[in-house]
Amino acid sequence: MTDLSFPPLPGALPDKRQVAASFSRAAASYDSVAELQRDVGQQLLDRLPPSFMPQRWLDLGCGTGYFTRALGARFGASTGLALDIAEGMLNHARPQGGAAYFVAGDAERLPLQAASCDLVFSSLAVQWCADFATVLSEAHRVLKPGGVLAFTSLCVGTLYELRDSWRQVDGLVHVNRFRGFETYQHLCAASGLKVVSLENRPHVLYYPDVRSLTHELKALGAHNLNPGRPGGLTGRARILALVEAYEQFRQAQGLPATYQVVYAVLEKPL
Ligand SMILES: C[S@@+](CC[C@H](N)C(=O)[O-])C[C@H]1O[C@@H](n2cnc3c(N)ncnc32)[C@H](O)[C@@H]1O
Repeated sequence: MTDLSFPPLPGALPDKRQVAASFSRAAASYDSVAELQRDVGQQLLDRLPPSFMPQRWLDLGCGTGYFTRALGARFGASTGLALDIAEGMLNHARPQGGAAYFVAGDAERLPLQAASCDLVFSSLAVQWCADFATVLSEAHRVLKPGGVLAFTSLCVGTLYELRDSWRQVDGLVHVNRFRGFETYQHLCAASGLKVVSLENRPHVLYYPDVRSLTHELKALGAHNLNPGRPGGLTGRARILALVEAYEQFRQAQGLPATYQVVYAVLEKPL
């Protein structure tokens, strides 16, 4: 059952076609800058129950397929399916293998039969879904009893240094919006799945300058796609003001960019 007291956020998250187009464009550059994504996904793999051996697994929001290949290597005898909303990502992932099937689809409307998977693995994808209650109910539907949903996501506080710096410059939305951790807690508790673990851990990356950070976000396809984002070119004066504002956060290691990562393992009751 989903919790209707936490409705979708109309207009607060980007349009799905824009998300798909942005990630498709980023497919070729993504892996060269995806240090955080690899680290977070590896930590999610480490959280899977040690003796767990799914017959059928789903990599939901597989991107370039880095974790599809890791899952394929770990669960060699099983059947894997990699799914993403961005065709460009699937075209990049498919030739590299790891799963038996690579399918275009939406996490909020899975093209899978009920009770068809033992594991739904999803790393850093569901923060792009406006209706997370539906993502959970879809995971619940496709999992077999005893099956596991393991996901990571991002929550409020992610890239707060960039958000605050832009706010000082023009007060506009320049950073993607994220759900609060307490919303993840409420929705997971109301999902009908048993919450085995759910935690929020910050990861901080350091950059020599603001340009390196914004170029990386673009290479990942994760730059700002929010409705309400400023259109047109970003003028030189505003960039200089942004750089000056962000410098206030500088530490010995460089300019910090904080990611608030959610790690979750849920189980469908028998
Ligand atoms: C940051 S990438 C993560 C990719 C991969 N899981 C990893 O850890 O490297 C997020 C991926 O989620 C996909 N995505 C976003 N919204 C989605 C949706 N509604 N359904 C399926 N995939 C989605 C994007 O196209 C993108 O490939």
